[in-house]
Order: sequence, then C-alpha cells, then structure tokens
Amino acid sequence: RTGCIEIPVVVHVVHNRPEQNISQAQIESQIRVLNEDFRKRNADIGSVPVPFGPVAADARITFRLAASDPSGAPTDGVTRTQTEVAAFSDDDAVKSAVSGGADAWPSNEYLNIWVCQLGGGLLGYAQFPGGPSATDGVVILHSAFGTTGTAAAPFNRGRTTTHEVGHWLNLRHIWGDDGDGCSGSDFVDDTPNQGGPNFGTPSFPTISCSNGPNGDMFMNYMDYVDDAAMMMFSAGQVTRMQAALDGPRSTIGR
Ligand code: ARG
Ligand code: ZN
Ligand code: CA
Repeated sequence: RTGCIEIPVVVHVVHNRPEQNISQAQIESQIRVLNEDFRKRNADIGSVPVPFGPVAADARITFRLAASDPSGAPTDGVTRTQTEVAAFSDDDAVKSAVSGGADAWPSNEYLNIWVCQLGGGLLGYAQFPGGPSATDGVVILHSAFGTTGTAAAPFNRGRTTTHEVGHWLNLRHIWGDDGDGCSGSDFVDDTPNQGGPNFGTPSFPTISCSNGPNGDMFMNYMDYVDDAAMMMFSAGQVTRMQAALDGPRSTIGR
C-alpha cells in the first residue's frame, strides 16, 4: 500500500497542579511535531549523518485531533480531568477514571494520548499492538510533551511522543533491549546492530558491536538520546509500522 494514513488522536490531559493542565497551544505543538517527524518533514532532517541519509524514510502517517467523540458529538479532541494523584507511574492508573485518570476512547478508532505528571524520571511509556483496548495508547510526561508551555529542555522538541507512538506502531528500541549486549534485535534490517542505548547528544560515529565505520544509528527516534539529537525513522522501521497499520491496527484512520 502507498499513500498516507491519518490517525485521529484524543489527548487526555490529567492534571493535579494547575500548570499540568497544559494549554491548547502546547497540545497543538505536539501534533505538529508528529506530523513533521512521521512525514520526514522535520526541520532537522538535514542533520542525519550522510551515510545514514539514504535509509531515512517518510513513515506516511499523519495525525489530527479527533473532531467527533465516541458518541459522535463534536469535540476538540482533548479531555481534561482534575486528579488527586500527584504523580503517575507506568501502572496504567492514568488510563482509568476509577484510579484518578481518564478512560480510553475506543482504541480501534483513536490513538489515546494521556498527558500527566509521571514520577521516577519516566518521560513516557506505550502499549504495543495487540494488548487490551482499555489501556491502549501512550502516556507522556507533561514537561516532555510538545514544544511550548511546560515543555522543558532537553525533552522539549516533542520527540518523546514520536518515540512512544513508534512503540505503539510496533517499533522496538534500536539497541534490541538486551542491556549493552550485541545479541538483541529490533527486528529491523537497516538499523545497525547496537550495544545499549545512547543518551545526551552523541557524536558521529559512535561505534559498538563492531558496527563501524558508521556505528550506531543513535539519531533514530527509537534510541534514548536528547530530543535535539534524534531525527529519523529508517525505511525498515516504516515497513514495520505500516505492517502494524495493515494488521493489528487496521481499523484506525480508515
Ligand atoms: N520511554 C522513554 C523513557 O521514558 C522515552 C525516551 C524518549 N526520549 C527522548 N529523547 N524524548 O525514558
Ligand atoms: Zn521506548
Ligand atoms: Ca543490543
């Protein structure tokens, strides 16, 4: 299949302190970043090191805030919920009203994004395709969401959401989730075998697992570098995301 798929998004803002009730502008800044990153229209695409340039790919996925809610009524695609919970964790409590969060909208129709305070230094987390629909979607720390408002450096370029939506579309971490070992795989052919995650702003080349001369594709959205240091999906990753959209996520955007 060629062409793009447009995914309807609902953003559930779950706030305890007032600043966590992020602005519409902050939400729109995140949707803009998703539309740039998943169409290879990000302004920093030119920073991909030359040897990896040919592999950088357009994922052919776009995003828009939902215009109708699950009952068919008009919506701006945002829900706002006041909570007594000071900070959530990765236990999915933010995804249901009974535990101080907001219930998911049907995951066969919407990408659910919860934005809240998270504890323990967690920037975000995602559910892979095939899981329970009540917890399907991604959760993002409010200060790692979008590019304005409470978004704070070095995670203020919206890339945490790009990364988590990558997981939601079945992408694994680029180093293969085997600690620092060389045997883990992300099940993508055109991303070099890589030891462990990279952090901060690495310089090219960063070599591990005998992957010279070009080394790790640390500038990939599925590594752990700072927002300003990640700027590409690979063609193989796009194939995997599109397979998810043709398979377990085939009801969305159509
Ligand atoms: N799940 C990862 C974490 O919480 C997200 C990493 C996102 N990286 C980024 N540069 N925004 O650590
Ligand atoms: Zn991740
Ligand atoms: Ca590895």
